[in-house]
Amino acid sequence: MCGIFAYKGEKTNAAELVINGLKKLEYRGYDSWGVAFKTDHKISIHKEVGKIGEFDVSTLREKMNVPIESQMAMGHSRWATHGGVTKANAHPHYSQDESIAIVHNGIIENFAELKKELQGKGYEFRSETDTEVVAHLIQEYKSLGHVEAIKKALSRLQGRYAILVLCAEDNRLIAARRGSPLIIGKGEKEFFIASDIPAFLEYTRKVMYLDDDQMVIINDDAQFFDLKTNKKIEKRIVEIDWNPESAEKGEFSHFMIKEITEQKETITRAINQDETKLMKIADEIKNAYGTYLVGCGTAGKVCLTASYLFAKIAKRHVNVAFGSEFPSLQDFITDRSLVIAVSQSGETADTLEAIEVAKKKGAKVLSIINVEGSSMDRISDYSINIKAGPEKAVASTKATTAQIAILTLLAYALDKRLEEGKILLVNTASQINDMLNPRYEEHILQLAQKIQDVESMYVIGKGVNYPIALEAAIKLQEVSYIHAEGFAGGELKHGPIALIHEGVPCIAIVANDETKHEIISNAMEVKARGGYIIGISPESNDVFDYWIKVPEVGAASPIVNIIPIQILAYQLAVLRKNNPDMPRNLAKSVTVK
Ligand code: F6R
Repeated sequence: MCGIFAYKGEKTNAAELVINGLKKLEYRGYDSWGVAFKTDHKISIHKEVGKIGEFDVSTLREKMNVPIESQMAMGHSRWATHGGVTKANAHPHYSQDESIAIVHNGIIENFAELKKELQGKGYEFRSETDTEVVAHLIQEYKSLGHVEAIKKALSRLQGRYAILVLCAEDNRLIAARRGSPLIIGKGEKEFFIASDIPAFLEYTRKVMYLDDDQMVIINDDAQFFDLKTNKKIEKRIVEIDWNPESAEKGEFSHFMIKEITEQKETITRAINQDETKLMKIADEIKNAYGTYLVGCGTAGKVCLTASYLFAKIAKRHVNVAFGSEFPSLQDFITDRSLVIAVSQSGETADTLEAIEVAKKKGAKVLSIINVEGSSMDRISDYSINIKAGPEKAVASTKATTAQIAILTLLAYALDKRLEEGKILLVNTASQINDMLNPRYEEHILQLAQKIQDVESMYVIGKGVNYPIALEAAIKLQEVSYIHAEGFAGGELKHGPIALIHEGVPCIAIVANDETKHEIISNAMEVKARGGYIIGISPESNDVFDYWIKVPEVGAASPIVNIIPIQILAYQLAVLRKNNPDMPRNLAKSVTVK
């Protein structure tokens, strides 16, 4: 949430470089943006409301009317938390005397008290943000020297932050974090700092991760400090294996459809894991007194799907909680519990908090993540990388199916049938490869054209495909903005069926398993009340008004069933002239609570 990117090095176009890098982080926030750069003893700032992706960088010089040559710059693409979407609220923010500028991702919880205190000392605020207090606080302590002033200001903050600071009188770029990600890229005589790797992937793949309560000072080299002990820290340089193309749209019109299409390969990559490690993790699950699957949004629905997979494949009960709800269960967590955190980004604040709660109780933590080196990856006892590659569309697609694939494999490992699970998933991957072709997309497009103007739609599923109905509703809501809800088919008659009237589309996910007859009956109940039934199933059925065929893949049915709904959601978004990659009000990687 909010993209941060900074450069310090020998190139003299730092401001433009930062804007271009920020464009690659736009999925993290896209209501407004800004850039600050340092020339001699001055910091210049340019801010705009709107998407940074639409800004023509060649117009910066003309717009600013000052020399823009600089070797140090930082920028920010915002997802508003405190204060509306205005130029004044966009980052960077100056200190009162304009000698300091900062960008920030996170929330300063005690900003109101600090603001009052600073106002009492004569500081005037130009924005409604929580961030501006930090700039003024650093100015307040400036007599200590920049580094000490920043440390002192940070020590007064409550909440989460990733902060970058430029000082007019200092050639160093300074950054610190608590709870929000910051990654340092090391190039040839140049450094980058970003909230996510794709910002600098075209320049370097050598990265260093800043941990909580740490500061980095970038000059000719990068020096790391622990803010609690004030001691210097040595950082390991990690070489990441993403290539720059994997973070680009290429021939596709949007990242969302590119990432949906990549599911031809991502399942195979996901299941290619160290088997000894999988069996060890399976043992941890077996020996745990209580396993809790934790995730948010789509990842939360993956957790719920996994609870059915564990029950069905391994006859094992596991608990499920959304990250934000997990703290309410903490009384049940002990040092014999196992928490399995599922997260694409590995940075979601609610899931991270759940992990913190679990760790305080002495529980073991396994993270299933897509971003190597992310906070969750680093604080967990075990982690499994789903290897889906960069997921940039806000709506999760390829990461979702890769997570389900890993959890299916774990369920088989738990039942000592790892090889059987692998064979099933390899077969599923090959069936997805055949399924995802232009004819298939065209068939779904015809349906999207038919239903594009509806006000509401519903999705029903049963058993392991009930959470898939919930996930389907999230996909439809977030990119098409059509009111969509998912239900367990059997629950309809207990209330929601009152919503059905003539022509309302209802997607029925019908797997070829023990749930088939009942979910077909539920679809009939909807049809009898005028509903328009869209069947997602390996086989046709008379109750379907529109049938989207999916391959027959047994226990892996959740993976293939969600894919046509991802395509439908995408196509509805495009037909309704929404940007599927950057849906309104949302941002990728929710690093605030
Ligand atoms: C929806 C979506 C979100 C995320 C959620 C958790 O398509 O992507 O609901 O699943 O914000 O994010 P991660 O997986 O990064 O923890």
